[in-house]
Amino acid sequence: MSRIEDLLAKMTLAEKLGQLTMTASSYAVTGPVIAGDSTESIRDGTIGNLLNMVGADHVNEMQRIAVEQSRLGIPLLIGLDIIHGHRMLFPIPLAETACFDPEAWERTAREAAREGTADGLAMTFAPMLDVSRDLRWGRTAEGSGEDPGLAALMAHAKVRGFQTADLSGAESLAACAKHFCAYSPVTAGREYAAVDISERTLREVHLPAFAASVKAGVETIMPAFTDLNGVPMTAHIPLLRDYLRGELGFEGVLVSDYNAIGELIKHGVAADLVEAATLSLKAGVDIDMMANAYRNGLPIALERGLVTMDEIDTCVRRVLQLKEKLGLFDDPYRRGAKPEAASAITARRQFARDLGARCITMLKNEGEALPLKPGVKRLCVLGPLADAAADMRGPWWAAGEPEGQVSVMAGLKSGLSDVEVRYATGVGFDDGDTAGIDEAVALCEGAEALILCLGERASMSGEAASRAYPDIPEPQMALAKAAIARARALQIPVIAILFSGRPLVIPWLAENADAILAAWFLGCEAGNAIVDVLSGRVSPGGRTPITWPRAVGQVPIFFGQRPSGRPMDPKDYFTSKYQDVPNDPLYPFGHGLTYGRFVLSNLRVTPETVAERQEIEVAIDISNEGKRAAEETVFLFTRDRVASVTRPLLELRRFAKIRLEPGQTGLVVMKFPAAELSFLGADLEPVFEAGDVEILVGPRADRADLLTASVRLFANVDD
Ligand code: BGC
Repeated sequence: MSRIEDLLAKMTLAEKLGQLTMTASSYAVTGPVIAGDSTESIRDGTIGNLLNMVGADHVNEMQRIAVEQSRLGIPLLIGLDIIHGHRMLFPIPLAETACFDPEAWERTAREAAREGTADGLAMTFAPMLDVSRDLRWGRTAEGSGEDPGLAALMAHAKVRGFQTADLSGAESLAACAKHFCAYSPVTAGREYAAVDISERTLREVHLPAFAASVKAGVETIMPAFTDLNGVPMTAHIPLLRDYLRGELGFEGVLVSDYNAIGELIKHGVAADLVEAATLSLKAGVDIDMMANAYRNGLPIALERGLVTMDEIDTCVRRVLQLKEKLGLFDDPYRRGAKPEAASAITARRQFARDLGARCITMLKNEGEALPLKPGVKRLCVLGPLADAAADMRGPWWAAGEPEGQVSVMAGLKSGLSDVEVRYATGVGFDDGDTAGIDEAVALCEGAEALILCLGERASMSGEAASRAYPDIPEPQMALAKAAIARARALQIPVIAILFSGRPLVIPWLAENADAILAAWFLGCEAGNAIVDVLSGRVSPGGRTPITWPRAVGQVPIFFGQRPSGRPMDPKDYFTSKYQDVPNDPLYPFGHGLTYGRFVLSNLRVTPETVAERQEIEVAIDISNEGKRAAEETVFLFTRDRVASVTRPLLELRRFAKIRLEPGQTGLVVMKFPAAELSFLGADLEPVFEAGDVEILVGPRADRADLLTASVRLFANVDD
């Protein structure tokens, strides 16, 4: 008999339910604290998994109780939210996406897994694969933005980075694709609210990344807190059982979100924990995180004949199999046994800095306000985010301590040490106190440039951080207006550095600052990365993976919208538009300037006609006509103008990056299988239809900036 079957045969019901339970230690608070000290329960085998614990010593202490003192000696599975780095924090996922480099996405996961395992962990609740098209939703920060294809690429990179090819390795973490699924389109962007979307949107937008994660071998998946069209995801049999396990063949562990099984009662689909536990067990949720619904509810459900022991055993088996794959039975102390080499830690920090600069997204740079002029002597730096080291972490900081994060001020001190920096916060975050503005603004006198550090503090995005006004808070705007007025009078350039976990609604600033850098939240090396860009040592490399609206009323706004039967025509009243704001965004998807100036030409598509099983090759020449070397990112979109169902105005197929010296010309070639041009027909089954498809290539999702060609598709014809 295998080890697992042998254990199952020996386990009492209470021990089985222990394996299906995950309880928080008090290290990191990621939800309402429900459970107390779990030591006794680990010893008696009624808690088999923990979350929010850090430090190899603590982990091993708990592990020892499970392995050496519990009756069956089953090791604990211990997980933590490692969202963008563990001890050393990298750019938040939205920021990281901006570098459009899947190798870097994989590397951040790999580095985080090294640190997480060094802390004794075996599981992380990441990656978050929710596609977000509503910036009001705070968790936009945790994902890869608005495009489903990008989310799928991210899924692949992260799963590989966390898990590696050998899950039992001392530096491997089981990944958790979350939140399955369609959590982001919560009503009105309000966290945890109801979700009601079409089957088409579900299949086209929200499922592909999860399918990619399963294909990449993800070990665990977390159902979302939310309901979908009336059925809470924690109890969603068609999606959890039929789609995930059936259609996709997912054999791993489903772990509930924090107290989500208990919350089925508040959703109004279960009267008590017995019913709640029954519903999620039937849907195939293996681990109950923080609800104690399985421990307390399933024995009664079993007695009443609502669930069977077989159903319980199936879940227990999956949990034990995961522990076995992780190597926990063979050596529960493997992770964290060897300290990391100092050189690995130094290299990681350098990587965080380089990556930070590659993620900074330059939204505007009028009059070449950036980089700062060589030999600059004096700068005025204002704003509450200029020296906010801890906030550089952004939401979800795992074991990243508040100290040790480099603020802009610290970055300036080390990176531009000859420059005199006059600094004031001017205003705070929370109170409306604007009394310090005058004094702060006076510091502009004699400075050669004004740098404003504005935006959100870390806690203003992430979970439970929906905002109806996703803009720069009022006191900071008062500071910005006063300071910019003074800078104008002094004729010095104004550079705004924005910190945020989402695009911000900044029409005034976009008009009035000379340069704007979206710095998102860049993690431990934020200040150094920003100063690398300010000084011109590095060209900013980020491209926004999410559209920046002009007004919150435009939300949801994204490049993949479908056409209207009455497209916007300023001369025609009865067309699709607003009376008070243009239709187009402030900054489209993909926007981001560099210190180079790139010109694209000579778009070629071969062959001109293709069948479904052929490949399409797209080539374009690109030259850097600017004065500085830089890396440019180009996007390849398609547009299917006539099809049996309406197709999005643009669909992202590929992207590529190329670094060019001033005056240099390069060639970018992107290929993709014609089969990717198939889509879900009216019956939601995939179809590949004959006809012409436009190929559009350029620096951002704005037709005006894209070169176009076309390809003709032949359906089901052999060549
Ligand atoms: C979040 C999850 C997270 C879990 C555990 C929940 O509140 O929704 O994303 O993994 O807490 O910390």
